[in-house]
Amino acid sequence: MRLNIALILSIIIAVGLVTFGFTFYQISSERAKLNGEHEKRTTEIAERIANISSIFNRHNHQVDFMHLVDSINSRYNLLDIAIYYSNDSIVTSDFSRDITNLSLDYVSQSIASDTSIGNYISVNGKEVYQYIKPVKTVNFTSHAIILYTDAEYIDSIVNNIWFRNFIRWFIQALLVSLVTVIVIRWGFYSPVNKIVDWVKAARFGNIDQLKLHPPAEFLAPLHKEIVNIAKAMHEAKATALEEAQLRTNAEAIWTSERLTVEMKNLLQSKKMIVVSNREPYMHIHEGKQIKCLVPASGMITAMEPILKASGGLWIASGTGDADKETVDKNDMVQVPPEEPKYTLKRLWLTKEEEDHFYYGFSNEGLWPLCHIAHTRPTFRAEDWKYYKKVNENFAKAVLAELTDEEQPFILIQDYHFALLPEMIKKEKPNAKVAIFWHIPWPNPESFGICPWQREILQGMLGADLIGFHTQYHCNHFLETVNNTLESRVKWDDFSVKMGGHTSFVKPFPISIAFTQRDYENSIPKTKSAQLLEEHGITAQYIGIGVDRIDYTKGIIEKFLAIERFLEKNPSYVGKFTFVQIGAPSRTLLKDYSDMVSSVEKEANRINWRFKLKNWKPILLLKRHHSHEEIAPYYSGADFCMVSSLHDGMNLVAKEFIASRNNNDGALILSRFAGASQELQEAIIVNPYDIEKSADAIKQALEMTKEEQQLRMKHMRQVIVKYNIFSWAASLLRTLVSIHD
Ligand code: G6P
Repeated sequence: MRLNIALILSIIIAVGLVTFGFTFYQISSERAKLNGEHEKRTTEIAERIANISSIFNRHNHQVDFMHLVDSINSRYNLLDIAIYYSNDSIVTSDFSRDITNLSLDYVSQSIASDTSIGNYISVNGKEVYQYIKPVKTVNFTSHAIILYTDAEYIDSIVNNIWFRNFIRWFIQALLVSLVTVIVIRWGFYSPVNKIVDWVKAARFGNIDQLKLHPPAEFLAPLHKEIVNIAKAMHEAKATALEEAQLRTNAEAIWTSERLTVEMKNLLQSKKMIVVSNREPYMHIHEGKQIKCLVPASGMITAMEPILKASGGLWIASGTGDADKETVDKNDMVQVPPEEPKYTLKRLWLTKEEEDHFYYGFSNEGLWPLCHIAHTRPTFRAEDWKYYKKVNENFAKAVLAELTDEEQPFILIQDYHFALLPEMIKKEKPNAKVAIFWHIPWPNPESFGICPWQREILQGMLGADLIGFHTQYHCNHFLETVNNTLESRVKWDDFSVKMGGHTSFVKPFPISIAFTQRDYENSIPKTKSAQLLEEHGITAQYIGIGVDRIDYTKGIIEKFLAIERFLEKNPSYVGKFTFVQIGAPSRTLLKDYSDMVSSVEKEANRINWRFKLKNWKPILLLKRHHSHEEIAPYYSGADFCMVSSLHDGMNLVAKEFIASRNNNDGALILSRFAGASQELQEAIIVNPYDIEKSADAIKQALEMTKEEQQLRMKHMRQVIVKYNIFSWAASLLRTLVSIHD
């Protein structure tokens, strides 16, 4: 209010001063113009009167003279006229007698100087212009005529201008004040009040309310920042609360923040580099746009939160068709794109390298060799040559980053880089090197068919730490080393000593970024009907499967189990649909493209057999789906089915459980997936046993709510405790504790 009054007063004064200044100027020039015109007109009249010779005839009778004066006055609209004769006599009317007498000095002055004199005088409060003109008659006698004209109208014009400008000032001041008050109210107070509401909502962590009323465009950046601050505050608060709870629980539960601190302590500002073949972010062209996507890979699901928490460098192959356009001159890009936390360095594979290293040796050789899923491994000398070459290229790239590093930490991911540990250690013996094998390790006899098994084992044993998901895989690895290399395998501490170097072989069951906070979060559940609606399907129950289309995932076996379930339980026909999200993968390989066709064929066959109007038993969504797209299926389904024929861990099982924040639903899990060792409350199946798998589907759908809660709660607690942050902390702690 006080601000309003001060502003209005200032406006009134400012407008007043401006108006006064302009009026003053206008009046001065108007008065000067009017006076000038008036004087000019009077001068002209005086000229004309001076030519009337009879006026100076002093013998005129007073009465005649008065007649003459009257006629001149009325003709020229004069107030009066007086004649001064050279004999000092003046002829005037009553009106001008007194004035003329008073002006005699002027008259004499005018005659003496033979110059006209004009001045304004006030007569009875009236403005009068007196004009004295000396006149010489033919006989050179000096006379003067004195004219009196009414100049009052000049004052009234001037006053009128003052008055009009005063009214204008008043209206202007009123309008400007009014507009100012309105503008202040709507343009200032209202946004300020809105901002106050936002800040209040932010303070109470009410982010939904904040987002509810999107602001006018000019406030949008401020609003966005306040939402971000609110989110950050909310997270900080939640973390603090979580940490406090953890302290009181005295439990070693891990969070991203705790890992950040732990890694700082462990690394002591030493550099950490993660190496993998698959990159965590891939840029691809989509029309004229460049899109960034996260490839379907359990390895990425697991490693990404660690890098986000700790920063550092991740070196990987750049395989997106727009990858080269998005890196800097060092082939680096900051990721995640929306909120950069770490650096991704891309290495480029030639077509031959991709063919032989990636498709050939890695995915036609090592992948089937390690999975034992009844697809025969293929070993070609040419593939092996390129496998070595690409490992060397990556070793060079890693070493180039280590020139000034005393004791860096190198975390190598997966079967693509079995030779890398030895290559790095050879050049940088002080580096702490770990390799984590994300896929299973087969028994020594199976591995023994690989023509280059010795080189692979030797390459891996360059690492200080070799990690697998399970102790079972560690044992297989140690047995393989024992059977193959001249080395000392120690079973008491699970280590291998070879050529003076010791490698420890330990299980680290990998996991996902799921914390106590996520456990307690309540996210609304997606309705199953909603999920199927857009696909033209109506069903009461939904099952979900999420896999890369890979022969190790047992997708066909899963479909056969669904078919058998419907055969055995016809009451579910028309009521139950299984949604299989399948990301095509490695499709340049025949086994994989055949797999895509078989999966499609099998789904079509079963659908054809059972389908009804608006219903089919299997909905195959065959394309890459982002995490955001998959999330509603996880939360809306009645159960998830993981039927891997062999799998290192399988993080889909853990992601499904993580999404069930109502502790409902059921998980059917293959006993051949590493996850089955931890998630023992799942319905564990042998995917080759179609009959039992069909029964498992029935069991999942008909499980009581109480049983679902018991099982789900337990499994969720397991992954809170053994989440990816605890995985990373445990792996790094072990690596740090290893001394040469
Ligand atoms: C498995 C491997 C990962 C790999 C992923 C996807 O999960 O352990 O290293 O990234 O499959 O396979 P791709 O060949 O597409 O990278």
